[in-house]
Amino acid sequence: MGTKIANKKLIKRAKVTDRSLIKEAIKALKLSYSPYSNFKVGVAVLKSNQKIYKGANIENASYPLCLCAERTALAHAYVVDSRSKILAMAVVCSSDKNNLLNAGTPCGACRQVISEFEDMQNAPIRIILSTVDFKDIKIYDSIKILLPDAFNGKNLNTH
Ligand code: THU
Repeated sequence: MGTKIANKKLIKRAKVTDRSLIKEAIKALKLSYSPYSNFKVGVAVLKSNQKIYKGANIENASYPLCLCAERTALAHAYVVDSRSKILAMAVVCSSDKNNLLNAGTPCGACRQVISEFEDMQNAPIRIILSTVDFKDIKIYDSIKILLPDAFNGKNLNTH
């Protein structure tokens, strides 16, 4: 409960640039390959080179092999230009059945991967979560708010 209240204070209001990044994430929903769940996830990553890279979830008949949108977007953004930093990422979800009430938050595995990207570039990534109708928007200044005390490379150190 305490954590919930503390986190709420850390959720920021959307800026104009956040809204335009959400719009790009909505466009990315079209790239989703999700015939098994019919649950689309679109992501737009903004980098310090001012370019936007999209990603979407890519499912597989062998269900555990499904790729989350956050990770396809980050891999895309990284390999195209590995030197520029990731400033922000917008994530939107849509279900074929009904409008979603709440903005979807990244799964635990994606949080871990985003956290490693923050450590790698030594700079936080703004996380912008929204429904497609913009009615529910949540913004976090770093993935560490959603994944405190994350496992990282330092945990592999030995004496
Ligand atoms: N999914 C994502 O793309 N990102 C998440 O953070 C959670 C879930 C995808 C995986 C699967 O294709 C679908 O959403 C339903 O779980």
